[in-house]
Amino acid sequence: MSPYCDVLIIGSGAAGLISAINLANEGFSVLVLTKDAVTESSSSYAQGGVAVPLALGDSPEKHIEDTLRVGQGLADRNVVRFYINSITGYIKILRSWGIPFLGFKNNHIEEKCLGNEAAHSHRRILKIGGDLSGRALMKSLWETACRHPNISISQGTVLVELLKSDNDFCVGGIFQDINNNVFQITAKATILASGGLASLYSKSTSPNVSTGDGIACAHKIGAKIKNLEFIQFHPTALDHPSYFLLSEALRGEGALLYNKLNERFMFDYSPENLELAPRAIVSNAVWREINRTGAVFLDIRHLGEEYIKNKFQGIYECCKHFGYDLANDSVPVTPAAHYAIGGVQVSLESKTSVDGLWAIGEVACTGLHGADRLASNSLLECIVGAFSSTQSIKEFIQQNNDLGKYPQEIDSLEFDFTGIVDTSEIANDLKHRMWKFASFDRKEEHLLYLLDYLEELEGKLPKQISTNPFINQLKNQVLASKLLVKAALSRRESIGTHQVHNINYNVNSFS
Ligand code: FAD
Ligand code: SIN
Repeated sequence: MSPYCDVLIIGSGAAGLISAINLANEGFSVLVLTKDAVTESSSSYAQGGVAVPLALGDSPEKHIEDTLRVGQGLADRNVVRFYINSITGYIKILRSWGIPFLGFKNNHIEEKCLGNEAAHSHRRILKIGGDLSGRALMKSLWETACRHPNISISQGTVLVELLKSDNDFCVGGIFQDINNNVFQITAKATILASGGLASLYSKSTSPNVSTGDGIACAHKIGAKIKNLEFIQFHPTALDHPSYFLLSEALRGEGALLYNKLNERFMFDYSPENLELAPRAIVSNAVWREINRTGAVFLDIRHLGEEYIKNKFQGIYECCKHFGYDLANDSVPVTPAAHYAIGGVQVSLESKTSVDGLWAIGEVACTGLHGADRLASNSLLECIVGAFSSTQSIKEFIQQNNDLGKYPQEIDSLEFDFTGIVDTSEIANDLKHRMWKFASFDRKEEHLLYLLDYLEELEGKLPKQISTNPFINQLKNQVLASKLLVKAALSRRESIGTHQVHNINYNVNSFS
């Protein structure tokens, strides 16, 4: 692996790989470094698909309005317009790369193939391969990326710090591999595509890699971070240690929610939209009903075994694997941390506030979502961000062709030589505290307690890069948690996914 490239991409989810293929097609040498195996990304776990206004009678305008309504006044109208008006064109390009989108016949979409999800005024979820869209998407992108002569990929290679030049440009990063070697890679342009931070919580639908490393590292070199208080909790994760996602597409096709008293409680929380109210409302309702009655169940049995097995083959089989039969059981569900709405603040071209550093996908705060996110708008965000950042990266490289050529001496870095100590107990304890004190019904005294705890923990960790990868990981986990808690403390009102204690939860706050 060469220590120098045109474009360094950190993360191999949908955002990272689409960007890699696109930039490699432009002739740049691209290096993709990723924390774990390529299968470990939220993109690989995605189920529903990509929101695209393709159906007859649907339009970008309607999709824009739905997105803005769910964002509750905090989404940026210009950004929403730009992203949604761009998506159809980029889907065409992805189809030309061979991504197996379902339902296209002679360039027309068969409406019955589009999925339905909460708060969409139209069927518009474009599926890939089947009901586990992420797997098919990532398999196809991975095969294309691996065959590309301009792309090199290294799995198990973790970003520890981003690097800045003397004139304050980002010029790459410091990484640690599976043998604990620490080394630097420099580049003319660096793209963070390292995903979100839902795994800072003990209950999470996301893979373990989603611990907010990219956000922590960007913050350390002075990049602006925005809206981290908005963590989207998915209402229906299986209440099982896997927290396997039961896609909103199930509710889109008619699955119902019941509490332990067998009451269909969504009538009390969103009488008009019921199970298909925006996610923040359904998650809050599920959380409250679990506390009030002891459990909540998702029931899709009335749709019939054959329908369920055909329409949701992948989800059905995964549930079976965990001991639940969707066709014959109503299954226990819990809310779980799912998606980071906030992140590294970027412009329309995905530029961060640090020159030479772009952020795309879930790590970025683009302004598309606001206080809550419309279902399946995040793969859309990955796709549009990956393509639309290209022009500014090309121009930047033309103007700064020597950037990153002269790396700093790695020997000059000081290391912490703690041996291999297992930090998993501390990391898990932190995740439980985050769930308990920074999920629903946030209380100021709880957040302040959490902040104290995080600061104390931070004080015990070494300042330097450690030869122990678990320590480096824990440091990023602590910093990302701290940024989240501070953001939650600074927003006083309940809005969207950020619900604070003592303010009556207003079921009519969304109409
Ligand atoms: P990811 O796909 O998470 O990729 C991040 C990459 O960065 C990974 O490869 C990771 O290993 C790497 N990385 C992290 N830290 C480091 C580090 N320190 N060093 C090096 N590499 C690092 N959205 C939709 O629009 N539609 C859906 O149907 C949908 N379903 C979902 C289902 C589930 C279960 C989950 C969890 C999310 C779902 N989402 C969905 C959200 C969506 O999948 C994600 O927001 C999106 O895939 C994020 O893509 P990404 O490329 O930005 O990040
Ligand atoms: C789901 O399929 O329920 C997840 C969709 C999303 O997070 O956008």
